[in-house]
Amino acid sequence: MSRRICVIEGDGVGREVVPIAVEILSAVEPTLEFVPATAGWDTFQRQGQALPDETLDTVRNCGVAIFGACSSPSRSVKGYRSPIIYLRQNLGLYACLRPVISLPLPTCRPGVDLLIVRENTEGLYVGREETDGELATASRIVTRQASARIARFAFELACRQNRHRLTVVHKANVLPLTCGLFRTTALEISHEYPEIAVDEMLVDVAAMYLAKEPGRFDVILTTNLFGDILSDEASVWGGGIGMAASLNIGSGLFVAEPVHGSAPNIAGRDQANPIAAILSGALLLRYAFGMEQAAKRIERAVSRVLEDGYRTMDLVEGDQVAVGTREMGRYVIARLCNE
Ligand code: NAI
Ligand code: MG
Repeated sequence: MSRRICVIEGDGVGREVVPIAVEILSAVEPTLEFVPATAGWDTFQRQGQALPDETLDTVRNCGVAIFGACSSPSRSVKGYRSPIIYLRQNLGLYACLRPVISLPLPTCRPGVDLLIVRENTEGLYVGREETDGELATASRIVTRQASARIARFAFELACRQNRHRLTVVHKANVLPLTCGLFRTTALEISHEYPEIAVDEMLVDVAAMYLAKEPGRFDVILTTNLFGDILSDEASVWGGGIGMAASLNIGSGLFVAEPVHGSAPNIAGRDQANPIAAILSGALLLRYAFGMEQAAKRIERAVSRVLEDGYRTMDLVEGDQVAVGTREMGRYVIARLCNE
C-alpha cells in the first residue's frame, strides 16, 4: 500500500488539530506523504459541494485519510450533507472503531479498555427523510448483509486483540424488525467464534452501565446511531471528547477521525485538545500500515505528556494552567524525540 495520506482538515477546530496530528505522524514516520483536500461547510459555501469530487477521488487514490471535523447545520440545507457521513457511505467505510482506554488523568476511570464497533453505513444515518411540514419520517435501513459484515469484523478484531467478551447493543424490544435483524444476524455469526463470550443489552441499559460500570464492557457491537451516541458517552472515561480517537474502515480504505466535531465554541482560539486527532493518527498507522511500533510510540508520548501534567483547557482542574493546542503538540513531539 502507498504511504500517502489524504488530509482533510474540515471546519473549526479540525483546522487546528489535524495539522498537529500530521506533524506528529511525520515525526514518527518521515516517509509518509500528505495530500491536502477540502470538505465541510466553508467548502460548501465556496464551491457548492461539501465533499467535492476531487476530495473523494483523493481519498480513494490514497486509500488512507485523516479527517478533522465539518460543521453541519441542524436544519435542512439544499445540497448539503455531512461530509463524513457521505464519505462513509460512498466509500463503503463500513466499520467505525472507537477505542476508549484509561489514560494517566485524574478524570479517567482506571481499568477501562473497551472498543466500540459501530456499523457505519446504514441505520438511521442513510439520510432518507421526508416531511410535508406536518409529518416528518425517516427510514431506518438494516440489512442482513451489512449486519453480518460488521459482526464478523467485530468478532475477528476481538479475536486478534485477545478480547474475551462482545456485547451486542440494540433496541429489538421496540424495533423488532430493524434492530431484530441486526441482533439475530450478530448472534448467528457469534457461533463461529466460540472463544468470545457474547451477551446482548438494550441500548438504554447499555448507556446506564457505560456510565456506572464501564469495566464490564470489552467490545460493544452496535448500529450507527447508537454507536455515535454511546461513543461520546464512553469517551468520558478516556479523558473526554478531546481525547477520543476513531478510525473508519472499508475494503482497503482507512479514514481516521477524532470523535469530536468542529467545536465552534472554541474554534480559532488555540484551545482545542489535539490528542483525539493525534491518537486517531496512531490508529491509522496501526491499522492501515501495520506500523504497530510507531503507533505505540505516539500513544506512549501522549501518556508521558499527561503524566508530566500538561493539560489543554478541557482537561484542567482547579487552578491548573492550561496549555494551548499548539503547545500540547510541541510537548508530544518533544516526548517523541526524547525516548
Ligand atoms: P463538538 O464535538 O464539536 O463539541 C462538543 C463539546 O466538546 C463542545 O463543548 C466543544 O468545545 C468540546 N470539544 C470538542 N472537541 C474538542 C477538543 N478537541 N478539545 C476540547 N474540547 C472539545 O459537538 P457539537 O458542538 O455538537 O457540534 C459542533 C459541530 O460539529 C456541528 O456542526 C456538528 O454537526 C459538527 N460535528 C461534526 C462531526 C464530524 O464532522 N465528524 C462530528 C460531530 C459533530
Ligand atoms: Mg458523534
